[in-house]
Amino acid sequence: MAGARSKSVWFCTSCGNEYSKWMGKCPSCGEWNTMTEKEVVTGKKAPIAVSVPGAGHKPMPLKDVSTGSEDRLSLGSAEVDRLLGGGIVKGSLVLMGGEPGIGKSTLSLQLPLRSPGLKTLYVSGEESVKQVKMRADRLGGDSSGCLIYSETDMNAIIEEAQEVAPDLLIVDSVQTMYCQQVDSTAGSVSQIKEVAATLLRFAKGSGIPVILIGHITKEGTIAGPKILEHIVDVVLQFEGENRGAYRVLRSIKNRFGSTSELAVFEMTGTGLREVENPSEMLIPMHEEGLSGTAICAMLDGNRPFLFEVQALVSSAVYGTAQRSATGFDVRRLNMLLAVLERRAGFKLGQKDVFLNMAGGLRITDPACDLAVICSVLSSNFDYCIPADTCFAGEVGLSGEIRPVSQAGRRAVEAARLGFKRIFVSSYTHFDTKPSGIEVVKVSDIPSLVRALFK
Ligand code: TYD
Ligand code: MG
Repeated sequence: MAGARSKSVWFCTSCGNEYSKWMGKCPSCGEWNTMTEKEVVTGKKAPIAVSVPGAGHKPMPLKDVSTGSEDRLSLGSAEVDRLLGGGIVKGSLVLMGGEPGIGKSTLSLQLPLRSPGLKTLYVSGEESVKQVKMRADRLGGDSSGCLIYSETDMNAIIEEAQEVAPDLLIVDSVQTMYCQQVDSTAGSVSQIKEVAATLLRFAKGSGIPVILIGHITKEGTIAGPKILEHIVDVVLQFEGENRGAYRVLRSIKNRFGSTSELAVFEMTGTGLREVENPSEMLIPMHEEGLSGTAICAMLDGNRPFLFEVQALVSSAVYGTAQRSATGFDVRRLNMLLAVLERRAGFKLGQKDVFLNMAGGLRITDPACDLAVICSVLSSNFDYCIPADTCFAGEVGLSGEIRPVSQAGRRAVEAARLGFKRIFVSSYTHFDTKPSGIEVVKVSDIPSLVRALFK
């Protein structure tokens, strides 16, 4: 090729960033000895040509722009449709992120299998056509509308997608795809950006919605979905402990709907099952009471649901007490334990404290604080909290219990599930008084302890 030269670049195998020289430690992700050398051919090439319809190319007065209602397609999952705001918007680019093994490929293949009328092009850069077929057989459903394509070259993918003109394009995964126009290996930051930008142009130009899958490593953010969040229209994120059967899909960005919506799935032998009523799955029905458990009335996005917080407090075997939390921020746990110690006089400094959120959920709602404190106290005193009691309150550094958003909706959901009492902050304001449930208002930890462990 005229003008093309080859040169060496170094890229980090951990985060994918590129450098012109070797370094012992990657300045971006801080990992040691991860640099690998790669020959690349340089020389400017045009980006992949994507035909874009002529309309809308000239500036036009805002008042003349007709919006109509967004054209949406229903996918094979009521929960995914709901997360997206009522189906996928035509011409939109949706990023589905999550750790490896969490179920991204399973869910994205399940969508076309459960909606046979939908003509889908499923591009896999990770698995062969045979492997995808085996997975599809396991998932069941109707595969008549689904075309499988095992490819990693974006030029070929865009060409095929333009020819096939499917209703939906799924690309699994962004880390395995490459554009010849970019001089670096698949998975590097510049490739990831170019792949996403190409798919965005394709989606906008053709009106075909695209679901793009992206891996997030355990550490969370590096080289991948995070750098794409501002490019794509919607970000759905898969969460959940790999050991647990439950998976939570969260919408963390949505240009066409509300965010922080959440859907719960259960991984079964035949794929992901939608859990329509998460509360019923996440509150185990104990025959007799168990100490160390407390039920939290939490809200994720717009949906209230209840789940169990479990704590185990025991005397520290080693010199320093251990604190561990699954599904909850361990720093927040330490803060709550310090509040219990300093503001309410509970001596927990020499105790090991283990905390667990039911179903492998990862909880960020501050309303969970109260249930965390109650489960810790319950385990510490070996006192069972009545099974018909739940909690919704944030705890401040001075030990005060603060109101939480939409307390009324939480109480209504608790009452619907048969709870008889809900503990909230004294400062809680209810738009409508919840009926069928006793509201116990507490202002600080001592008043909580008096009301609960009386
Ligand atoms: P996968 O969807 O490939 O995850 P990702 O694409 O996010 O890396 O795999 C999810 C896990 O679920 C995998 O360990 C195998 C398991 N699994 C089931 O339990 N049941 C099933 O029906 C399928 C297809 C997978
Ligand atoms: Mg996969």
